[in-house]
Amino acid sequence: MSRLDSFLRRMCAQRVLLEEAAALVRGIDGPVVDLGIGNGRTLDHLQALLPDRRVFAFDNFLHSAIGVLPPAEQIVMGDIRDTLPFALPRLGERAALVHNDLGSADEIGNAATAAWLAPAIEAVARPDAIVVTSFLLPFRNYIALPLPPSVKPGRYHILKLGAV
Ligand SMILES: C[S@@+](CC[C@H](N)C(=O)[O-])C[C@H]1O[C@@H](n2cnc3c(N)ncnc32)[C@H](O)[C@@H]1O
Repeated sequence: MSRLDSFLRRMCAQRVLLEEAAALVRGIDGPVVDLGIGNGRTLDHLQALLPDRRVFAFDNFLHSAIGVLPPAEQIVMGDIRDTLPFALPRLGERAALVHNDLGSADEIGNAATAAWLAPAIEAVARPDAIVVTSFLLPFRNYIALPLPPSVKPGRYHILKLGAV
């Protein structure tokens, strides 16, 4: 498969799972956390899907269009390894939905990130939060939710925190 085909399939999987997650959290109170603003595509999509939720956006620098950004108090700048574990006072309440888009094609780098990111997410997420993630995260307790037929296993993930 070409890199272009792979990218397109990953984007389609991301969109399908964000939409599924948005439907699931309509019954779960709490803000949304988008990890990795990048170009602001997923941030914009989450804000469109959940217009009544506060969406908090994290990155270490801004290179998205200004128009997609949430209010300034919902933008957290800096290394997520440093900012996320201490972000609960900023969020005000535990997050109902966390989207992790920090991944790259480097599986070893993703595994290293996963080791510190999972506990950092647990520090700010509800115990029953929905997590959509580009790579698997070693949470203490979670179940992997079934993927829609259009999403190939391993391409993108949707999880629910909590004991099985
Ligand atoms: C794949 S891009 C995110 C794309 C974005 N979700 C979108 O839809 O446009 C990954 C982003 O994560 C940010 N990032 C990666 N590791 C980070 C870290 N440790 N702390 C803060 N930001 C990080 C990068 O700066 C980059 O903007």
